[in-house]
Amino acid sequence: MNPKWWKESVVYQIYPISFMDSNGDGIGDLQGIISKLDYLKDLGVDVIWVCPIYKSPNHDNGYDISDYCDIMKEFGTMADFDLMLKEIHIRGMKLMMDLVLNHTSHEHPWFLDSKRSKDDPKRDFYIWRKGKNGGPPNNWESYFSGSVWEYDPETDEYYLHLYSKYQPDLNWENPEVIEKLHDMVEWWLKKGVDGFRFDAIAHIVKQQGLPDAENPHQSPTVRAYDMFSNLENVHTLLQNLYDKVLYFYDIMTVGETSGLGPEQALDYVGDGRRELNMTFQFEHMFLDAASAGSGKWDMVPWSLIELKKIMSNWQIVLHNRGWNANYLCNHDQPRSVSRFGNDVVCRVPSAKMLATFIHTLEGTPYIYQGEEIGMTNVAFDSIDEYRDVETLNYYEEKRQQGVPEEDIMRAIHNKSRDNARTPMQWDATENAGFTTGQPWLKVNSNYMEINVVRAMKDPDSIYHYYKKLIELRKKHKVIVYGEYKLLLPLHEEIYAYTRTLENEQLLVILNFFGQEPVFEMPDGLEPEGMELLISNFEPKKGEDLTRLKLRPYEARVYLKRF
Ligand code: GLC
Ligand code: CA
Repeated sequence: MNPKWWKESVVYQIYPISFMDSNGDGIGDLQGIISKLDYLKDLGVDVIWVCPIYKSPNHDNGYDISDYCDIMKEFGTMADFDLMLKEIHIRGMKLMMDLVLNHTSHEHPWFLDSKRSKDDPKRDFYIWRKGKNGGPPNNWESYFSGSVWEYDPETDEYYLHLYSKYQPDLNWENPEVIEKLHDMVEWWLKKGVDGFRFDAIAHIVKQQGLPDAENPHQSPTVRAYDMFSNLENVHTLLQNLYDKVLYFYDIMTVGETSGLGPEQALDYVGDGRRELNMTFQFEHMFLDAASAGSGKWDMVPWSLIELKKIMSNWQIVLHNRGWNANYLCNHDQPRSVSRFGNDVVCRVPSAKMLATFIHTLEGTPYIYQGEEIGMTNVAFDSIDEYRDVETLNYYEEKRQQGVPEEDIMRAIHNKSRDNARTPMQWDATENAGFTTGQPWLKVNSNYMEINVVRAMKDPDSIYHYYKKLIELRKKHKVIVYGEYKLLLPLHEEIYAYTRTLENEQLLVILNFFGQEPVFEMPDGLEPEGMELLISNFEPKKGEDLTRLKLRPYEARVYLKRF
């Protein structure tokens, strides 16, 4: 089972701009994070993943870095960072940085030099090409709408950006780029950070010759193009980074890798690969996307059987060979309770059920800020209330195509990244206690009902349920390392599985919907001796475990020792 601290950990993701504002400018900051460390410690998390806090002009909330070794001025100073790291360590927690190695900001000095002239020594730090037939060099489409190419009239060439035009892609074929990035990673490790989430790492290598994609309209937000995703050389580069830098530190690493299944993921995380500890997979994030062609915005109802297939495959393939990173939400996705649960009538039980799911799978569980109090999607009336560059580009593109406003807004209400980015709801005071000023993005209007203070006071809250799940993980190795086995693969409402380690077995029963299906104990499982570890409802007196009628969104976890 190869024990590691990062397998036994629970990670909490902070989106700093929306977490806590300490100085009333409406923007979350590092002092704000420091002021909430006791809260996180109390919740029981081990690792804090902080989304990018480097110097940035903020076109993509810090994912456009203009200086890797400085702090975004809105967030504070390097002294604030050092204090934050120290305070995290004092509390026995760890810090995972979010590092963007695929691209920089267009304001990074490297890019400013690169742009200056074709002969500049930094020209080759980025990917520049001549246009073709009066247009861009190829037909690739950007994650954030439109071509990946931006024309620069000064030098009459185009530069490549897989994301927004403010995020030019670095040229990883240039050894100087690699050396500079390695040095920078090392610089942070020497400061004592405990790990990295490598943003968009699957895309650092592009297909040789940058040929046209066969189907340019197959949206990269559903299926990352073969042209720039998970290409063989990514592994060479990651192994190089590992051998030269990462190997020397006891850290945790996770890569953002869209467009792959578990077999391919083993190339990143397989034992002995010398690359990453785990990756974020995206297969379950596209369950509700209508087709590869329309991208993430065009929604269809998702199917539980499909979810089981995907998750089971990851559980089984990676068992004893790699490690999973389990999540239902992050800063790029809608809120989990709105998407996979029910935020209207069963918000509390469904959020607890989803938490039970993520925390009882094999792999490291990730909590996204606010998930622990069941924060929900938001539906602003007007596009003017939105801030996310992806959302704004999508709106523009669809308007130009003549799509009716209400259709565009419906898609945005369901899928905009701003759903997860509204300020953290700390209490019932104005602006949810996030800021004393004007928040950079409007607070969700449900903050009077959904907030931390209220959740902490209520022993039945989602917050306390999370706390208990985390405690259980510390107590029972089977939760961390047990082997997963799916039960009832074809049941349309119940997701059930066992996890087995030596003489211990967990039985997890999850009702994913609002009906009351009956869970029939499968052959080979005996209810005798099963101890109920956690549940989101009180068990009924005298109930029959072999034929258990579940309540809407009911979740139960049993432990049995042999
Ligand atoms: C990743 C980040 C996302 C960002 C993009 C470009 O997908 O999670 O927030 O916009 O990379 O850096
Ligand atoms: Ca601030």
